[in-house]
Amino acid sequence: MPPLYERDLAAVASVLHLRFYPLATTKGEGAWLVEEGGRRLLDMTAAFGAAGLGYAHPAVVEAVRRAAGEMAGVSALFGASPEVVGFAEELLALLPGGTDRKVYIGHAGSDANTAAIRAARAGTGRSRVLSFGGSYHGGLGESQGVSGVYVAGGLRPEPGLAQVPYPHPYASVLLPDVLDQVDRELSAGDVAMVIVEPVTNDGGVIVPPDGFLKGLRERCDRYGTLLCADEVKVGLGRTGTLHAFEREGIVPDVLTLGKTLGGGLPLSAAVLPAEVDAAAEGAILLTTIGNAVCAAAGRAVLSTIASERLWTRAEVLGDRLLTGLRALAGKHPLIGDVRGRGLTIGVELVRDRETKAPAKLETALTVYRAFELGVLTDYVGPGSNVIELTPPLILTEEEVDLAVEVIDAALSDVEAGKVPESVIGPYKGW
Ligand SMILES: Cc1ncc(COP(=O)(O)O)c(C=O)c1O
Repeated sequence: MPPLYERDLAAVASVLHLRFYPLATTKGEGAWLVEEGGRRLLDMTAAFGAAGLGYAHPAVVEAVRRAAGEMAGVSALFGASPEVVGFAEELLALLPGGTDRKVYIGHAGSDANTAAIRAARAGTGRSRVLSFGGSYHGGLGESQGVSGVYVAGGLRPEPGLAQVPYPHPYASVLLPDVLDQVDRELSAGDVAMVIVEPVTNDGGVIVPPDGFLKGLRERCDRYGTLLCADEVKVGLGRTGTLHAFEREGIVPDVLTLGKTLGGGLPLSAAVLPAEVDAAAEGAILLTTIGNAVCAAAGRAVLSTIASERLWTRAEVLGDRLLTGLRALAGKHPLIGDVRGRGLTIGVELVRDRETKAPAKLETALTVYRAFELGVLTDYVGPGSNVIELTPPLILTEEEVDLAVEVIDAALSDVEAGKVPESVIGPYKGW
């Protein structure tokens, strides 16, 4: 174990651990992290998506340097600064559906979704929220209380929460049944907002059938409910369009963003209808929200993604990655399903392709072995058996091929019984 990791264990609280292997790095560059001692690791997680533009992207470095030197403001609670106002204006300009919207600027996906829920309740005068099984919207407050993964784990849900299964073809959860349940819940007229991930990651990287978002849009319109697309993880190009919701030709009322948005800094956004925002003045007050340095990073991220049309890269590279991984299914009986959209991809490992029984241990061992071989991945899903790949959007073809090669080798080693169970002992994972 590297000395830096030991110091981390001694000083940094395990309250914040989500560890899959002893990762300790001293530098990042592009899609790569560098360990103490110089070993280079290809990061196919982008740190759970937060390094969506890769590490130390020159545009972000330059923007942060300049903004930190100017320090035009550290809190939008307190007043206006050019970086924060510019960030909000530039984000709104990238959205369809008119300009009558306002931007909450936060630190994390969790507070952006909490802001969205509070504003929706204030703006509609209704209290209930509808979310989906297996969803992840945050680790704090209201965003946690509507997250399917936490509710399934025993956390007390938000009062009045309606939860409906996420449509999942591989698990035979069918779209018409899901939409019928949504209809029943919304028809009472007391649901303020439906919150949905256009592709759900932590629930097992599930790509819903076409028509899901459209079906939600129609029902929300029918019952006067707001529709929130939580694009914290899959927004800003990752799924092959700038906004994931574009694929279905709908526009949500509320959009939340985070992770990639900050270029590695803590930055999130909730785009709200102006009249909803007006009903919720001061509903979420965290001192350093609307921080000028983070906003400057966000402006650099938005302009890089738009000018380089990184969503087209995500589509091309995602197809290559999906094809490469699907080709492995022929030789690895552990692979039950490979699915994804753009650069958000899941590889579900099963004990038996008939029963689809989750290969939980083998998944943890494969992820560990890939780390030993130089590629970072993680795993998600209710059975902890879906290898998750959400690499930086600036990946190259060669890096995609390397990742496939290493996952192939890791699976072979696990299947051959070469990776002892003891290696994953201290790493609880997801
Ligand atoms: C879809 C989605 N929403 C919200 C969040 C919460 O974001 P954060 O961890 O930045 O609070 C996450 C985090 O994984 C997420 O995947």
